[in-house]
Amino acid sequence: METNSAMTGGDLAVRDTWGSKLAFILAAAGSAIGLGNIWGFPTVAGQNGGAAFLVVYLLAVAFIGAPVMLAELIIGRRTQRNPVGAFKALAPDSAWVVVGALGVLTGVVILSFYSVIAGWTLAYVWKAVTGTFVAGADTEAIFGHVAGDALPAIGWHLVFMVITVTVVIGGVRKGIERWTKVLMPALFIILLLLVARAVTLPGAGVGLDFYFKPDFSKLDVNVVLAAIGQAFFSLSLGMGAMITYGSYISRKDDLVSSAAWVTGFDTVIAIMAGLIIFPTLFSAGLEPGTGGPGMVFVVLTSLLSTIPPEPIGGVIFGTLFFLLLAIAALTSSMSLLEVASAWLIDERKVPRKKAAITIGALAFILGIPSALANGAVDWLSALPGVGLDFLSFLFTIFGQYALVVGALLISIFIAWVWGVRPAGEEVRANDGRFPLGRLWSFLIRYVAPLAIVAILVQLVAQLFGWSLFG
Ligand code: PHE
Repeated sequence: METNSAMTGGDLAVRDTWGSKLAFILAAAGSAIGLGNIWGFPTVAGQNGGAAFLVVYLLAVAFIGAPVMLAELIIGRRTQRNPVGAFKALAPDSAWVVVGALGVLTGVVILSFYSVIAGWTLAYVWKAVTGTFVAGADTEAIFGHVAGDALPAIGWHLVFMVITVTVVIGGVRKGIERWTKVLMPALFIILLLLVARAVTLPGAGVGLDFYFKPDFSKLDVNVVLAAIGQAFFSLSLGMGAMITYGSYISRKDDLVSSAAWVTGFDTVIAIMAGLIIFPTLFSAGLEPGTGGPGMVFVVLTSLLSTIPPEPIGGVIFGTLFFLLLAIAALTSSMSLLEVASAWLIDERKVPRKKAAITIGALAFILGIPSALANGAVDWLSALPGVGLDFLSFLFTIFGQYALVVGALLISIFIAWVWGVRPAGEEVRANDGRFPLGRLWSFLIRYVAPLAIVAILVQLVAQLFGWSLFG
């Protein structure tokens, strides 16, 4: 019964595939487009000079992100396995399986704190609908309650995790695909409505200048590092999410254009998120320097009540904005949960339902300290000797370092261990073509690994308080 034949019809043995190329693109774009785009991107861009950051970010996506995206899809479709199984299949009896295992672990940890933040967005949808964000509302106190009191923080984290698990139990085609086909168009429509509102606010132009007129004197090595790190997180790279989603792609479909669509969508949506945030902030005379949860959950919400048409503008656009965040988070958390679930299903022959519940429960428990790290428990809110709260600490280790290391190892593996030649054969499996194949080989062999090594050196140096590049 443990064959992989779709004809046996046995629950355990059948490996799902996407219903179509479009279905894959929507699901993978759903994974990529998340809190990292709508909340993270404008925050990081705001802290790093706006337009200058945008330029560097686009270069990082094109020359490092896109080739790694294709690499992950190739590994996934070739092996039709989760990251652990994929490395086992391509490099049997070697230490490379550790890269897959690191990916599975990273996915669970990211899911744990991602769900906490996603829980806040659910709470905020509710608050926005019920008209909490009226003129003069103390948005700082509201955030302090949602994120800082144990009960709502853990409660909404639980609600979000249960929704995520429910989707993943449905499987690839009847769960993830079915939901993303509805949620992604909804996300796009909401985004367009919000952009239209934001760019027509009085005084929006100053925000647009900040965003689109680069001032390259703001560039330094830290801006470049921030851009590359942001690109990996935003594109869901470096932990095998795209290996896993790629493992459900049919041999009939073409990988290069799929990778291009996903990368392109993710980038366009991040840019559009900036078109909501910057005009809104500048039109209220605020600077986008405020980082972290503050910018969206405190500063932006305090502006909601002023959005015309008053007095219901804030209710409408506030609800839409937090719904947008919640949807984006959900289509990403599905992929985070799917990686470790696929590992249990493929490698341990655990039935899907049990696998998704087990990993979801684990990530929920692991998320509790993160849920308590925004004020509920003092030492978790400022880890002694680290200077970060527990959630930010996990984000730094797993959302940044682990993804960068993972992406480096994946590119070294495909470029120098398994080889660009067999990789190219996998790309050509459908119609014998590999558009931009030589460019990809060059980027994945030299540009991506060297750039990533450079960031790692700088990151480690910063850890020790050294500054290598000035
Ligand atoms: N890409 C998602 C975001 O932008 C986060 C994510 C990272 C999802 C890694 C899966 C894997 O929010």
